Amino acid sequence: MGASIAFEGVSHRFERRGIPVLAEVGGQVAPGETVALIGRSGCGKSTLLHILAGLIRPSAGVVRIDGRPVTGPSSKWNLMFQQPSLYPWMTAAENAALGLTFAGARRGKAETARRTLGLVGLEDEADANVQTLSGGQQQRVALARSLATEPDVLLLDEPFSSLDAFTRAALQDEVVRVTGRLGLTVLLVTHDIEEAAVMADRVLVMGDRPGRIRAELPISLPRPRDRGSPAVLAVRNTIMRQFETSLCLRAA
Ligand SMILES: Nc1ncnc2c1ncn2[C@@H]1O[C@H](COP(=O)(O)OP(=O)(O)OP(=O)(O)O)[C@@H](O)[C@H]1O
Ligand SMILES: [Mg+2]
Repeated sequence: MGASIAFEGVSHRFERRGIPVLAEVGGQVAPGETVALIGRSGCGKSTLLHILAGLIRPSAGVVRIDGRPVTGPSSKWNLMFQQPSLYPWMTAAENAALGLTFAGARRGKAETARRTLGLVGLEDEADANVQTLSGGQQQRVALARSLATEPDVLLLDEPFSSLDAFTRAALQDEVVRVTGRLGLTVLLVTHDIEEAAVMADRVLVMGDRPGRIRAELPISLPRPRDRGSPAVLAVRNTIMRQFETSLCLRAA
């Protein structure tokens, strides 16, 4: 089941006297909720995600997952990057099992890896070398690797942006289905307004210099959502307007 994420007063500067990248960022994600974080390039989205994952220690502020302060990475919260970052000499199953190896699992890794590949529709490719798989299939292997350790939280950093529109749409639906079935908490960084409209329960709009949450928008449409439906198109427009308004506020 999903865990809650809570972050409070998160500020960060990479250099001691440098410009702050994040200033007093706060927010919450409820267990099982999917939240999309959108914002212009360079506003600090990846930095925030790395802080939530315990990969960067913030200059100030605190992050709690399931009420416990995050002090480093854990197999209970997995970050999935924009590129699949697979080991090219390994099979899909071996790559999918990597997180389990890093988490110190000894037994049952192969079975778990195969089962998770099944979750993302790749059961027939388990023994294929990942170099022989398409970009979309490789991203599915990366997703299986993220799911194999049975995390409570998935942090996704533009995971589909390098894929073509059709593969991207298929993977978005797949992540919605799998995370919904497992009840996972998802925080998704995206540049893609449609992706946010199709996947999220809530959208956070982040402004830049320094990065701050400027607006918040709940989306209460049932799933699965039809991209072409008037309701989803209306949500897309609302997100876009909200985004522009937030930026205008910044300029004012
Ligand atoms: N390791 C680092 N050292 C110094 N500055 C950094 C480092 N990583 C990021 N930055 C700076 O912090 C700011 C925010 O970067 P970040 O990668 O979080 O942005 P982003 O919102 O994810 O952008 P994009 O949408 O392009 O991925 C940028 O100005 C970037 O140059
Ligand atoms: Mg980024």
